[in-house]
Amino acid sequence: MIEAIAHPNVALIKYWGKYNDTLRIPATPSLSIPLLGLTTHTRVGLHQGSGDEVSIFGVRDASGRITAWLDTLRHSFGLDIPPLHVESSSNFPASSGLASSASGFAALVKGIDQLLGLELDLQAQSRLARLGSASAARSVCEGYMVLDGEGSAHESWSARRLLDWQSWPLGVCVVLCSKTHKPIPSSEGMRIGRETSPIFNDWVSANRRLFTEAVQAVEHRDFERLAWASKWSFYGMCSVMESSRPPVSYLNRASQAVIHAVATLDDKGVPAFFTCDAGPQVKCVYLPEHEQVVRSRIEQVPGVLEVRRACP
Ligand code: DP6
Repeated sequence: MIEAIAHPNVALIKYWGKYNDTLRIPATPSLSIPLLGLTTHTRVGLHQGSGDEVSIFGVRDASGRITAWLDTLRHSFGLDIPPLHVESSSNFPASSGLASSASGFAALVKGIDQLLGLELDLQAQSRLARLGSASAARSVCEGYMVLDGEGSAHESWSARRLLDWQSWPLGVCVVLCSKTHKPIPSSEGMRIGRETSPIFNDWVSANRRLFTEAVQAVEHRDFERLAWASKWSFYGMCSVMESSRPPVSYLNRASQAVIHAVATLDDKGVPAFFTCDAGPQVKCVYLPEHEQVVRSRIEQVPGVLEVRRACP
């Protein structure tokens, strides 16, 4: 058995909507940072039976998502992958907006690569991970990752590192606001948004401009500019969700209260901003020297279950 690890990531510029559902080609470019304190461990080996055997947190995976992805790699991408035995677990809850599928698919690609000696480069690993979950494309290595491509050309969509994390290590904490599973999988929420939201096309073009802003902000280590672009990408994604029919909502009362608390800190001049994904957990990003004030403010918010430092 080979053991591989990967960390989830949080998008500061969001991917929400696809050009192609089967190939998971995003409609928008995205930019993420890693959540290094959260880790998925995946063990991969050859399975002596006829099909793949997959367990997550010690329980046989009934969703079939990983076996379907393995079959796609075998049949549509011609990879010679024998039946596999896969065991995966993480030090954080699954399906609650903490990108467990991102770290899960990224760790699995690395494990398969090592087990079978494929020697895939990072770009190829990223592309394969993307076919499992597009955000997984950004988890194949740590750092400021950008996932971009050309239109609906599948081959062009893979992530690359814009900047390594040590060159600009920000403070990041994850605020757990619920332990229940998300009501609508992100793929489904995105599909509804693309098909029904009247602002979907505006979102796609606005987010591309925000992406360009954020890339420049990272290149210049400009926190205020990154915070601005990230905030509007989050609100843009929320607007698509809210204008979908039926509307899609992932935040709860505690998440809203945390968002308000962080926005208040920002108003007082503390360099901090928030973002959320397809779940109620809030991620807070700040300049590391302000960690104490940020944490103590968030810990006072009613309904917060835990504040976990994601980037030491
Ligand atoms: C809100 O990568 O989970 O977290 O590609 O359908 O598996 P699929 O979706 P997924 O969606 C992530 C959406 C997001 C924003 C982001 O991570 O960019």
